[in-house]
Amino acid sequence: MKIAIPKERRPHERRVAATPDTVKKLIGLGAQVSVEAGAGEGAQIPDQVFADAGATIAADAAAAVTDADIVFKVQRPLTAAEGGPDELAQLKKGALLIATLAPHANRDQVQAYADAGVTAFAMEFMPRITRAQNMDVLSSQSNLAGYKAVLDATAEYPRALPMMMTAAGTIAPARAFVMGAGVAGLQAIATARRLGAIVTATDVRPAVKEQVESLGAKFIAVEDEEFAEAETAAGYAKEMSDAYKQKQSALVREHLKKQDIVICTALIPGRQAPILISADMVAEMKPGAVVVDLAVEQGGNCEGSRLGEVVEVGGVRIVGHDNWPSRIAGDASQLYAKNLLNFVTTLIDDESKELAIDWEDEIVQGTALTRDGAIINPALTGEGN
Ligand code: NAI
Repeated sequence: MKIAIPKERRPHERRVAATPDTVKKLIGLGAQVSVEAGAGEGAQIPDQVFADAGATIAADAAAAVTDADIVFKVQRPLTAAEGGPDELAQLKKGALLIATLAPHANRDQVQAYADAGVTAFAMEFMPRITRAQNMDVLSSQSNLAGYKAVLDATAEYPRALPMMMTAAGTIAPARAFVMGAGVAGLQAIATARRLGAIVTATDVRPAVKEQVESLGAKFIAVEDEEFAEAETAAGYAKEMSDAYKQKQSALVREHLKKQDIVICTALIPGRQAPILISADMVAEMKPGAVVVDLAVEQGGNCEGSRLGEVVEVGGVRIVGHDNWPSRIAGDASQLYAKNLLNFVTTLIDDESKELAIDWEDEIVQGTALTRDGAIINPALTGEGN
């Protein structure tokens, strides 16, 4: 059984889907591991370190993946239409492709996996059950993104975060507001608190209030009947009614006027991110304030945020960097690689050291997109949510 780790070729992607530690463990599972030369560069893992862990270093992607039974990637394969090498064409028929595949936004590509006879698993579809926590790439990557978002805010913010009492005068603490307190938001709250900011946070899921408060931040939200029911059985946010959005927006507008740093993380799975900060709200914010829009890849929570850019509007900087986890590629790769290792371990038989996929297992059913030339995932075939 050969597992291949090609170099990531999408722009702004510095992560890698294996580390020396996971390579050793994959070999322990009975696999041969082939790592493309330079795959670890962005995460500061030299080829030699992979080789020392037991991997074979392949000269190029084709050499790494052509005869691989399993291919680990961070991002979905590049297509020829996107101007890159056709990474899917390099995979052999029957190979397992395990990556974050953004299936909702890339349905055509999911069809292409099926047509190529590739068995594709989308790691972001991992069910959020206790057993799969150590395979949950959304959590592992969002956590680091939330941390990095606060540091990126401090880089743009022309003041300090903590209160400082000096002989030359007192510096007031910064006020940070976190919008969306899921995994990324909670880490952003913790990070901003560690840096000494006064932190508030909002979310539409009522369960979050206690978590926000336990981190020492104040919870800000319209807490009406709709709010009490705004969580799906899967633990995600629902799209809120227009009436709720208006009430919440009025509350947020007043609050934003006093904020120095705003970290936006609000997402609704499979949908555009909700706009929580309109252009006129930005216009009312303090000059020097910074809005970091972690949701920018899903359309953004802040009107005017632009993917891959820092824009300044009336003295307010709106930060829309591309691919936050990649900005902290060393740790993000380490956790992502561990998530993949944990998942693939469940697909391999201990005794025979061969692939033995249990198609009845809910983590397989949740993540498998294609099998034997067909799209099988209920979230894509319309049989699921
Ligand atoms: P997410 O990345 O989908 O969304 C981020 C946050 O934005 C969520 O808290 C969501 O409620 C919030 N949001 C959406 N619309 C909003 C709006 N209009 N205004 C304000 N906030 C809004 O969520 P994430 O971080 O992936 O977590 C979702 C849930 O899954 C959480 O309850 C989390 O605790 C849970 N979870 C469970 C795990 C497990 O059991 N294995 C692992 C990780 C997370």
